[in-house]
Amino acid sequence: MSDTKSSNAMWGGRFASGPDAIMEAINASIGFDKRMARQDIEGSRAHASMLAAVGILTDKDADAIREGLLTVLSEIDSGTFVYSTALEDIHMNVESRLKELVGEAAGRLHTARSRNDQVATDFKLWVRNQMDASVEGLGALISALLTQAEAGADMVMPGFTHLQVAQPVTWGHHMMAYVEMFARDRARFVDARARANECPLGAAALAGTSFPIDRHMTASALGFDRPAANSLDAVSDRDFALEFLSAAAITATHLSRLAEELVIWSSAQFRFVTLSDRFSTGSSIMPQKKNPDAAELIRAKVGRINGAMIGLLTVMKGLPLAYCKDMQEDKEQVFDAADSLMLSLAAMSGMIADMRPNAPELERAAATGFSTATDLADWLVRVLDMPFRDAHHVTGTLVKMAEDKGCDLPDLSLADMKSVCSDINDTVFAVLGVHNSIKSRTSYGGTAPDQVRAQIALWKEKLS
Ligand code: ARG
Repeated sequence: MSDTKSSNAMWGGRFASGPDAIMEAINASIGFDKRMARQDIEGSRAHASMLAAVGILTDKDADAIREGLLTVLSEIDSGTFVYSTALEDIHMNVESRLKELVGEAAGRLHTARSRNDQVATDFKLWVRNQMDASVEGLGALISALLTQAEAGADMVMPGFTHLQVAQPVTWGHHMMAYVEMFARDRARFVDARARANECPLGAAALAGTSFPIDRHMTASALGFDRPAANSLDAVSDRDFALEFLSAAAITATHLSRLAEELVIWSSAQFRFVTLSDRFSTGSSIMPQKKNPDAAELIRAKVGRINGAMIGLLTVMKGLPLAYCKDMQEDKEQVFDAADSLMLSLAAMSGMIADMRPNAPELERAAATGFSTATDLADWLVRVLDMPFRDAHHVTGTLVKMAEDKGCDLPDLSLADMKSVCSDINDTVFAVLGVHNSIKSRTSYGGTAPDQVRAQIALWKEKLS
């Protein structure tokens, strides 16, 4: 190899001159794929061991490579590693440094593999870590919600539809709704991980290799369940990243809904909760302000995460098999989405753990907006055997009467009630209180405190 300077150390044989500066700029991925250094080294170490085990490499060379790769990793960890844009990506940066460290043996590492299966493997390992981290982050958030739910299993608050007061519910019930949502998110990551856990390494460029490699060995060394079964698919599949982004987008959507509730609830108009100083900011001009910035940022992060999902779907759309350089555009958006998700999960867990519900205000609000009108209609059905449609009409008339008088339903007199429906008796007043209302909602999954406690217990058991 004579002119490795003028062209390229890795494929200089075919090229007379080096790339244009613009070509280098558009081509290089080292600026971002350095985040996969650890996975790259892990993959290469597994590959070297396998090559030795099947007799393609001598033990001596394999040992030198494996040791050398650890040295490279320590240089990366300590920040002394010098990255080169000319070397394009993390794979060639690592290999080039390995060559400086161990000499000729380094050139044998790339036997029976390609950067195509190498990058697929590295990226999959990286995404798999993030799937695990998402499962963990969601677990922490779910625990924080369970703690809130348990403390407020009897606490009454208004339940809303259309953001209009609808019926009383409990704080515990509301928290547990988010537990259900985040638990489904968690299951999506677990599920995606199981499907993704096949190893691309050994697919080589696209067609497999003529060397007698043992793909089962590398797969198991890297914690995969099995090698990917089709070499073309193995190097061109980015479903694992798409599934990660999809699960992340749904999670971020749930986070943004909860964030929005925190923004509303912490406002001076609602005063349902107090958020901790730890997750709030002040204003530089208005001394009284305490802003729910963390919640607002979580509400917004979903934009980047959804953007990443659409971005990668668009990159992959219409790509012919197998590897295409387009696929280098898979990483940055996944990295950004993963960072945004982790930060959002951590901030939300902190906010939920610190949040203090304002029980008196929640209860006061629960009694507004004729929130027990459905209880009244149900009473007419149950006690007077009225068809529900008629009961709905009678109750509507009573709500109108209360509205005209400027009072709430329980403030109407028995005479008022009888003027609309003569059969009503004074046992009706018992169902008009918010506490009786929530206690009566005992159907499976309903808001009655006993139902909610049973769900809390179930989830605690599932998570332990
Ligand atoms: N940097 C490349 C990527 O991220 C590595 C694979 C390059 N393969 C190739 N045939 N040029 O996709």
